[in-house]
Formats: sequence, C-alpha cells, structure tokens
Amino acid sequence: MSEVKIGIIGGSGLYKMEAFTDVEELHLDTPFGHPSDAILVGTLEGMRVAFLARHGRNHNFLPTELPYRANIYALKSLGVEYIISASAVGSLKEEVKPLDLVVPDQFIDRTYQRNSTFFGEGVVAHIGFGHPFCSQLSKILGQAITSLNLPDIDYHLSGTYVCMEGPAFSTKAESNLYRSWGGSIIGMTNLTEAKLAREAEIAYTTLALVTDYDCWHPDHDHVTVEMVIQNLHKNAVNAQTVIQETVRRLKDHLPPSEAHSALKYAILTPLNQIP
Ligand code: ADE
Repeated sequence: MSEVKIGIIGGSGLYKMEAFTDVEELHLDTPFGHPSDAILVGTLEGMRVAFLARHGRNHNFLPTELPYRANIYALKSLGVEYIISASAVGSLKEEVKPLDLVVPDQFIDRTYQRNSTFFGEGVVAHIGFGHPFCSQLSKILGQAITSLNLPDIDYHLSGTYVCMEGPAFSTKAESNLYRSWGGSIIGMTNLTEAKLAREAEIAYTTLALVTDYDCWHPDHDHVTVEMVIQNLHKNAVNAQTVIQETVRRLKDHLPPSEAHSALKYAILTPLNQIP
C-alpha cells in the first residue's frame, strides 16, 4: 500500500469523508484489540489519507469504552505521522458560541477510568506533554480555517480543552469550576488520544466543533443530546471543508514536529532490560 502519513479521527457526527476517492476499507487487529471500526484509506487532495470514526460508524462506543490504544496503534502501523482529530465539544466561554471552530492548545485532564499509556509492564517512560498539541500542525489547521472564511462561523485559534470522563454531562458546579480554571471547551475523548499519539511520536491537532454551551450558561440549564445532534450535522460539513483544506496545505509542506522525537529522552528502563 502507498504511504499514508495523515490520519483523520472523526468524532460524533463525522463518520466518513465525502470527498475521499479510491477508498480501501482496512479491518486491522492490534496487540490492543480492534480499532473502533474499519480504517478507510482514501485519496484526498492527491494524498492517501486514513480516516477512523472514533466511536465507530454506528456510534457504539462510550468515551470510556473506546479502544484508544488500538486506534492509535492501527494508525501508526499504517505509517501515520500526523493526526487531525475532529471533535464535538461544549463551550465554557460566552464568546465561544455553538457552531464556532476552536483549535485548542492546552488540556485539563478530568478522566479517571481509562488506560492512556502504551508503557508499563516492565517499560518505564515519561513523555513530555507540556505542549500537548503539535504547534506546527495546529498552525496549518488554523491557516486553513482562516483562509476559508466560512460564512457565519467564528473561530478561536487557542483555548484549553477540559477532557471529562462522561458519559453524563457535567453538573453546573463542575462546569463553573472548569470556567474558573480557564477552560474554553469541554469534551470526553481528545486528551487520551493526544497522550497516546505523543507516545507513538505522532503529531496531533484538534479541530473542535462547538455543539452547545455547557450547563453553566444561563440560557442552557441542561445540555441535551438533541441540542448536540442539531449542531453536529452542520459541524460535520464544516469539519470536512476545513480538513480538506488542511490536507491540501499539508501536501505542499509536512511540517517537522517535536512529537516525532518524543521518545528520545523519555524511556528510563535501559534498552537491554526491556522485556
Ligand atoms: N461534547 C459535546 N458537548 C459536550 C459537553 N457539553 N460536555 C462534554 N462533552 C461534550
């Protein structure tokens, strides 16, 4: 198979890339089990690109249940060096409105029930995660968003993504706490993916698509799935436009990334002692 350097992980609402041609459907197995679904490899802007529906094409994994390690392992095994993750999020700030696009640059971790490392069982490593997103890849994603000038869609090229466990949405007290911490958006998946991608030396960026104001907002006492779904469909169209433009730009310039050497000084176990 020809080189596949770019991977797209599609979140809620984004289950395929309409613009893909010559699609191959790959059913992969990994030491961590099967990925969420088949990986679709298609041609986009003249490049072979992999697409994986994070929750499966029929949306049947909770955020806690996702095979995160299998997903990243499978993309790595195809040769993927850059991941663009499209993800539905709630907003924690008045100025970040439903349907806005956000390229976050930081995370706060509120997960507690998932395995978010490939290490352990005899191999000790601590990757640097101070800058959890690839700044070069995020810059190109930001340039794609800016250049498209999507009608009626505002965007924010920085922000802190709070990653909660779910599946229930936050309480009002939690939502206000995250606001007081400086959180901009809230979701349930991206931090786990970003950590594993970093361990796998894959550059990772997020295109966050806002579906709702979280429950802190005076006009949105509860977050409902209905509210989220209404905006998901509009967001899925915008996500595909932005991703295609990002891939078009990457075709001319696959940027160097610190993620690509993340393990250089991270492994503490002497190499000859690794089981
Ligand atoms: N995904 C979409 N909206 C969300 C919210 N308000 N909280 C957590 N995850 C979300």
